[in-house]
Amino acid sequence: MSKDIFFICSSCGYESPKWLGKCPSCNSWNSFSEEKKSNIIQSKKEISIDDIELHKISDLEISTENRIQTNIKELDRVFGGGIVKNSLTLLGGAPGIGKSTLTMQLCAILSSKYKVIYISAEESASQLKMRAIRLGLDKSNIFLLVENRFEAILKIILREKPDFVIIDSIQTLYSDDIKSAPGSVSQLRELTFKIMTYSKKYSFTSILIGHITKDGIIAGPKILEHMVDTVLYFEGDKNGYLRILRSIKNRFGTTNEIGIFEMRNKGLVEVLNPSMLFVSLSENKAPGSASIMIMEGTRPLLIEVQALILKTDYNIPKRTIVGIDSRRVNMLLAILDRYLNLKFATSDVYVNVVGGLKVDETAIDLGVAASLISNFIDKEIDYKTSFIGELGLSGEIRAVVFIDLRLKELIKLGIKKVVVPKDNMKFIKDLGIDLDIELIYISHISELIRLINKS
Ligand code: TYD
Ligand code: MG
Repeated sequence: MSKDIFFICSSCGYESPKWLGKCPSCNSWNSFSEEKKSNIIQSKKEISIDDIELHKISDLEISTENRIQTNIKELDRVFGGGIVKNSLTLLGGAPGIGKSTLTMQLCAILSSKYKVIYISAEESASQLKMRAIRLGLDKSNIFLLVENRFEAILKIILREKPDFVIIDSIQTLYSDDIKSAPGSVSQLRELTFKIMTYSKKYSFTSILIGHITKDGIIAGPKILEHMVDTVLYFEGDKNGYLRILRSIKNRFGTTNEIGIFEMRNKGLVEVLNPSMLFVSLSENKAPGSASIMIMEGTRPLLIEVQALILKTDYNIPKRTIVGIDSRRVNMLLAILDRYLNLKFATSDVYVNVVGGLKVDETAIDLGVAASLISNFIDKEIDYKTSFIGELGLSGEIRAVVFIDLRLKELIKLGIKKVVVPKDNMKFIKDLGIDLDIELIYISHISELIRLINKS
């Protein structure tokens, strides 16, 4: 085999001298593609000492004007209070979820104040115009560039000196410096690096759009995520109307912040008060329904989890979990089995988060356990009771963070009763405020089943 050839994992960037079926680094299957070392041109430029700058931290001044306000509150929130000037953001999402729509709406707003170029390497100018007409934005000042050659794009950027650039999408872009195909790992890596470098050098802010594979990662290596300043994912059920913009990485703000949008006829509309969006409003809850106060970044959100347990018809019982990590639910089932003697081994278990939200927070445990117990013993939970708490493997209920924010939001929503970890008691008492809600402190899962039995 030629020494020039090596193989690279398109998911995480792991390199290997021979082809592998499974990546030893990220465990993806069939992700290796061939690359040529000679395709990657290495420039041997001498570095001059005058190009290198050493800063003293006390001398540095930070301008407070360095964020661009988009006036879309949900977007500003996800960016951590506006888009930082000259930053590079990667926006990922499944095809058809609304990435181009969102960025075009953003461009239209910014183009009243800034010079904005929307670069499409995917759609024709007339397709873009059609989208703009549909969105009612066809009279805006956005400049369109339909181009997939990076060197050509750079020329336009140098001539036009835009403040803001959208690249739709990074996978369809192509640099002449690299001989491999568009979308290949070396192309993506090189392009992202170049855009990053030029955006700092020529002072423009940019958003790169990236497609997502069916496994939910941005097609192309995770390396891209390490290179950029901010990584956002646009998610939701394509057939539904709700869309969630989530920050996965943010060098200038908190991560896991979410912004909530609805896809309407005329584009995306922000949902400013989503508190009750993820709970069904019916007062007659079936057994298995529990409401939980979670935190998404800095935002408290009331959600509803539903569980359904059925005698199985199969040798191996089914576990169908939507919206929560299934390993976490399996762990809860094991805890319920061990400490409450609830046997799930011959039952199929279905768990669903209402509204299609994906939750990645341990404070959801107590509520999920409550919904499983409630369905198992066929006893519904009062719809004005909520749950907050993490579960440990010995059945203990562990304290959670941001308990004060969660409680305040529950009170605002008119929830009357909340089950919370005893370990949070001191913190809550120390708040010294009169909380207009009944707090039920528990320290072990055995107390939870007694509570549900009584309700
Ligand atoms: P798009 O932004 O093209 O998705 P992406 O760039 O992520 O692939 O949006 C695609 C879907 O959104 C398409 O199926 C039509 C729908 N849509 C609306 O419902 N309303 C609208 O105003 C627009 C522009 C699109
Ligand atoms: Mg698109």
